[in-house]
Amino acid sequence: MADGETSAPTRLWGGRFTASPAEALAALSVSVQFDWRLAEYDLRASKAHARVLHGAGLLDERELALMLGALDELAAAVRTGAFRPQIDDEDVHTALERGLLERLGALGGKLRAGRSRNDQVATDLRLYLRDHVRFLAGQLLDLCQALTAVAGEHADLPAPGMTHLQHAQPVTFGHHLLAHVHALLRDVDRCRDWDRRAAVCPLGAGALAGSSLPLDPHTVAAELGFDAPAANSIDAVSDRDFAVEFLFVAALVGVHLSRVGEELVLWTTSEFGWAELDDAFATGSSIMPQKKNPDVAELARGKSGRIIGHLAGLLATLKGLPLAYDRDLQEDKEPVFDAVDTLRLVLPALRGAVETMHVHTERIEAAAPRGFSLATDAAEYLVRQGVPFREAHEAVGRLVALCDRQESSLGDVSDEQMLSISPVLTPDVRAVLTVSGALAARSQYGGTAPAQVLAQLLDVQRDIESGRAWVTAWASS
Ligand code: ARG
Repeated sequence: MADGETSAPTRLWGGRFTASPAEALAALSVSVQFDWRLAEYDLRASKAHARVLHGAGLLDERELALMLGALDELAAAVRTGAFRPQIDDEDVHTALERGLLERLGALGGKLRAGRSRNDQVATDLRLYLRDHVRFLAGQLLDLCQALTAVAGEHADLPAPGMTHLQHAQPVTFGHHLLAHVHALLRDVDRCRDWDRRAAVCPLGAGALAGSSLPLDPHTVAAELGFDAPAANSIDAVSDRDFAVEFLFVAALVGVHLSRVGEELVLWTTSEFGWAELDDAFATGSSIMPQKKNPDVAELARGKSGRIIGHLAGLLATLKGLPLAYDRDLQEDKEPVFDAVDTLRLVLPALRGAVETMHVHTERIEAAAPRGFSLATDAAEYLVRQGVPFREAHEAVGRLVALCDRQESSLGDVSDEQMLSISPVLTPDVRAVLTVSGALAARSQYGGTAPAQVLAQLLDVQRDIESGRAWVTAWASS
């Protein structure tokens, strides 16, 4: 191609080139197949930029009106699918400029003044993520709500508390479920905290050095809902911390969902038998007619791996990149999009599974005292009688060994046998050997006592509402 006039109509560059890109390069370069989902954000940023150009005297009143009208029309065409990218549109920005030129002719070419795809893409991705982080927080809160509802139904249900997946001490089932809710509420809090740092607008940084045109970064930032413009134009186009941090939050959400999933897998085994998934959230086997499989929980567990991979992958992409923009940064989008897509699939499915699962309360309650889970209560009773904990631990340990041999429970040992194990092991220790007593005794703040669980339910409910208020404030702004 001889000059810019005759270069492919969709390309945003070409003036200085005498030949079109090789097919292999074009194929490597193209990102429109995945960055097209930024179209609505790119158009929003374009409208803000058009206003800033008008403010700088670079578009007159009529031109601004035409520009905004065309951008709105293009946005509608994007929404309905009437305007689609072509494969020779290198990226979303190229495709949308083509759409603008088709509508406005030469006037469409004025919008590119003072901006570059470098500040554009960083802005678009922030806008996309600030939207989607709220969507995901909403889904996280839905799952919190579902877990909290089940916890509320079983606030005082005795259950085995485990460490090392071995019976440790009895807990209330509600307390156990709320432990997952706290992890997920921290994730919501992380979304909010992330958003505070992500609310910085790169638009106006241009390629890297800002612009010689009298643009107003404060106005453009405010119009796009950011708290402030970027303080350094080089950082504005180089920084992908917001994408990495988002992936960290997403990966940790994935890990939390995986841990919920793992417990559902365990609880629905015939060995545990604590819960059964509703038919609508279970799957069958193609060969074994009796099977009811917890695929939903396994996929929650399995899909966390790919999000963790995306986080590690993006960190590796960024490591060693010189300032400012490098094309490597184009690799930021697919991991982020896939993390969003993955979580938006897993979260509602897991929520549904939790909401509809049948909890086998009698199996859970019957398992609570197993494994000598009241041994610590016996030792702490002796401590209250003045026995040093070391001795109490030793004496109760010997009692456990005896019961294990004779297959009895701790309270079923005769007075004589108790005293023969240790003189400190007085038979009145039996008074603390009930599950309900053990639970009620753990009544300190954060403890598993039913009364504490009820208080915790109220706190959690308040946190869920606070999260919801944050999510909806955005939608109505
Ligand atoms: N598609 C590119 C990306 O995602 C847009 C920025 C391209 N900038 C450039 N100077 N080639 O990062």
